[in-house]
Amino acid sequence: MAGVTDKAFREIALQFGAGLVFTEMISAKGLYYGDKKTKLYFDIDVAAGPVCAQLFGHEPNIIAQTAGCAAKYGAVCLDINSGCPTPKIIKNGDGAALMKDPEVFGQVLDSAVKNAGIPVSVKIRAGWDKYNINAVQLAKIAQQCGVCMITVHGRTAVDYYRGKADWDIIKKVVNSVHIPVIGNGDILTAQDADKMLNITGCAAVMLGRATLGNPWLIKDTVLQFEGKEHIFQPNTAERIKQALYHTRLIIKYKGEYKGIRESRKHVHWYLKGIKGNSNINNLISTAQSYAEMEQYLMQLL
Ligand SMILES: Cc1cc2nc3c(=O)[nH]c(=O)nc-3n(C[C@H](O)[C@H](O)[C@H](O)COP(=O)(O)O)c2cc1C
Repeated sequence: MAGVTDKAFREIALQFGAGLVFTEMISAKGLYYGDKKTKLYFDIDVAAGPVCAQLFGHEPNIIAQTAGCAAKYGAVCLDINSGCPTPKIIKNGDGAALMKDPEVFGQVLDSAVKNAGIPVSVKIRAGWDKYNINAVQLAKIAQQCGVCMITVHGRTAVDYYRGKADWDIIKKVVNSVHIPVIGNGDILTAQDADKMLNITGCAAVMLGRATLGNPWLIKDTVLQFEGKEHIFQPNTAERIKQALYHTRLIIKYKGEYKGIRESRKHVHWYLKGIKGNSNINNLISTAQSYAEMEQYLMQLL
């Protein structure tokens, strides 16, 4: 998730039992033109666990030139983003716009598979809009190109993040290809994850927004799949401890100035649902250092 799944977030997700984590989407064009900031997204700690690097782009030649970066920086898999509906991405023909042109979609994947040197996956949505639901067609193209796995987010690009994800389209994709399909969209609890598996027959699930400030969902889901008891309902002290740990990790990787600013949104997410925290939330938005952040959070105990 852009702006979220940086090195610190991924490390935490892996610590809580995620089987595979994804980088934020990375611009193939940015890499191609040697943009220094773009390269920073490849900050992968191989020892932390398996990371899939996600590229976005629509030009097969640029994908060909940049696909090798994923392996070079330690990713175990390269994912092509064909699901991002953000206007600044689709206006260039990238992300979900690829779904509108199955031929280019196939060329991009073909190019990625031939040049990545590691397995290539793709993330798609149900289709562009409700009149153009083509996930099954795209999944078959992806399979033909040699893609190793497909993630399907059961919304259209036009849906953005609104409404309810359609799990039925995920099931249709599962039934039309033989490569593993990952189900995504609206998994809020471990029970939802179980339902996703049972309803769609998908091989694995991808957790999204529900993990924000809530890595416990990952552990819960793993235990649910293992058929074990799971009651991870962190109390305020545990949430604060985890929020501070997350903050320290971001600072470790990005320095205190940038890190404390980026950590604010994560801390807000960790505190969601804790009663009487509105004053503290305001203070968190102003925290300038780790010491300040800690001081504000301690007031909740
Ligand atoms: C802030 C934000 C950033 C996202 N960035 C990406 C991204 O970079 N690549 C991607 O494939 N999906 C991205 N997504 C989509 C999520 O991975 C996921 O498909 C979507 O949120 C649906 O799953 P959920 O209902 O479990 O959140 C993003 C979503 C959000 C909310």
